[in-house]
Amino acid sequence: MTAPIILAIDTSCDETAVAVTRGQTILSNIIASQAQLHQHYGGVFPTVAKQAHKENIEPTIKAALTRASKDWSDINAIAVTQGPGLAPALEVGLNHAAQLAKKYSKIAIPINHLEGHVLSVLAQPRLKTKLNTKTNQVISPSLPALSVIVSGGHTEFVLVKQIGRYQRLGATVDDAAGECLDKVGRLLNLGYPAGPVVEQLAKKGDTTRFKFPLPMTEIKTFNMSFSGLKTHSRRLINELETKNQLDRQTIADFCASLQEGVFNHITYKLAKLLNQVSVKELWLGGGVAANMTLRRKLRQVAKEHQLPLRVPYTKKLCGDNAAMIGVVSSFKSLKPSANLDRKPGWRIDD
Ligand code: KG4
Ligand code: ZN
Repeated sequence: MTAPIILAIDTSCDETAVAVTRGQTILSNIIASQAQLHQHYGGVFPTVAKQAHKENIEPTIKAALTRASKDWSDINAIAVTQGPGLAPALEVGLNHAAQLAKKYSKIAIPINHLEGHVLSVLAQPRLKTKLNTKTNQVISPSLPALSVIVSGGHTEFVLVKQIGRYQRLGATVDDAAGECLDKVGRLLNLGYPAGPVVEQLAKKGDTTRFKFPLPMTEIKTFNMSFSGLKTHSRRLINELETKNQLDRQTIADFCASLQEGVFNHITYKLAKLLNQVSVKELWLGGGVAANMTLRRKLRQVAKEHQLPLRVPYTKKLCGDNAAMIGVVSSFKSLKPSANLDRKPGWRIDD
């Protein structure tokens, strides 16, 4: 029996994302990014995001169906992100999903965006061979696993006891890691989002030129904090500007050192956590998971704890996308949900 075909929608932040999935297999994964619109503000501006989602959602749905070579008669259910995220942005996806569900008599399944990032490591590409166009090998992970989510809105350690049963073991108490990279990148005029630019510039930089303090080492919990790194960066950048020393090489060195500070904080807390919990796999997800330096550092920690590290098979699954939402829905029962109200602060273990 083949798995149901899902049309998945995510409008939690600044990407209007629609995908068609079958089980863990991605048939299409379309992302209409609003990054250009938000450049001007150096971050996501909620009312601008809402308007852009409204304009983009129908064309993005059409593109996802076309790319998957499906039409509405092939779709068994609609999965939609209910939270966490920006309330006005979530509302567009949820309202649209509710309307489509009514129009085409489909079930709408509300999904947690963070569960999407966690399970993004289980997504599979569509097989292109003639013999095997329908089914794909299902990934059966060894559980429990520890998932590290590093994005622009979240930085947290999630224990995956079973698929659908999670416990948050630690999280940032202030800014997310991606947010820290974006905010410091803004001070360096690197555009928005700055994370990928920081990664590119860091390749030519010296990681040891600027020293960043390791935060929260005195605190026994596995929580993290990135706002101190941001404040420290601001002070250093102001000093460099005053002395007229912010040249290209200095910016590259700054990016390399900043990455070191942000990622060492995550891996320090992660290593401590892995000494306390017994897991069989380490997973990585979220926008910053696309960063090769972060992956290398996590691979090192995984190796020290004799754990396999799973990352999404393509970088497109790290940042916000709807394919991950479709994958989560493949583990849910297809029953009508009475509640499609937005949940901006929805925790993964609520
Ligand atoms: O998962 P995501 O698309 O959105 C949220 O759910 O927040 O993550 C976006 C974040 C942004 O902060 C962006 O700068 C960061 O991911 N990011 C990166 C890279 N690609 C995206 N940070 C560092 N290196 C990258 N290659
Ligand atoms: Zn996200």
